[in-house]
Amino acid sequence: MSTNIVVAIDGYSSCGKSTLAKALAKKLHFIYVDSGAMYRAVTLYLLRNNIDITDEKAVEAVLPDIHLNFHSRDYQTHILLNDEEVSDEIRLMPVSNNVSPVSAIKAVRTEMVKQQQRMGKSKNIVMDGRDIGTAVFPNAPLKLFMTADPKVRAERRFKELQPTNPDITLEEVFENIAHRDYSDTTRKESPLVRAEDAIILDNTNLTPEEQLQFALDRVEPLLKAKRQ
Ligand code: DC
Repeated sequence: MSTNIVVAIDGYSSCGKSTLAKALAKKLHFIYVDSGAMYRAVTLYLLRNNIDITDEKAVEAVLPDIHLNFHSRDYQTHILLNDEEVSDEIRLMPVSNNVSPVSAIKAVRTEMVKQQQRMGKSKNIVMDGRDIGTAVFPNAPLKLFMTADPKVRAERRFKELQPTNPDITLEEVFENIAHRDYSDTTRKESPLVRAEDAIILDNTNLTPEEQLQFALDRVEPLLKAKRQ
C-alpha cells in the first residue's frame, strides 16, 4: 500500500477547483498539480504551430515534441512548455476556446495521464481536473467533486479575466463555460463524471475559507490514520 496521500479534486470549469486545491496544498504542505494547465499548454503548442486540432493523427505526431514541466513557487501554477514559462498565456481566450477538443483526443489524454500518475507516485499531492478521481487516481483516498451554479461561475471567472482581457463580456464568459461543460461531460474519452466515491462540494454559497475547512475536515482523518 502506498504511503503517500493523493487528494483528487474534479468538477466543472470555473468552479474554484484550483483555488481550493492551492489553499489545501499550502495548508498541508502537499504538492499542487493543476492538470488543466497541462491540456492548456498542449493546446497552446498546437495553436502556435498551426497544427489542425481536428486532425487527431497530426496532433499525435507532434506529442513527442511537447515537453511540459511544472515548477512550484508559492503554490501557483508555473508551467513550462519546452522550457518557456507559459502560465499566463494558457489562460487567454484563444487557448480557452480550443482546449476542450484537444483534451478530448485519446492520445493526448493517454500521455497526460501517464505524466500525472508519475507525479503522484510517491509524494503527497493535491491534483485538480476532470478525471483525477476516475482515471488518473481511481484509488485516491479522498475525492471531491465540485459544482456551482453556472451563472455564479461565469461571474467569478469574468471578474478574474477582466483585468487582463478588458474587452471580454460576461455573456462571452458564460458561453465559454456552458460550451466547455457540454464538451467535458459528453466527450467519448474520460468524460467529466463524478466518481462513485467522490464527495460533492457545491460551493455556490460557500466562501473559500468554508470550502477549505470542508476539505480539511476530510483529509485530517487520513493524515491521522497514516501517523498511527
Ligand atoms: O481546469 P481548466 O479549465 O484549466 O481545464 C482546461 C480544459 O482541460 C477543460 O476544457 C477540460 C480539460 N481537462 C481535462 O479534460 N482533464 C483534466 N484532468 C483537466 C482538464
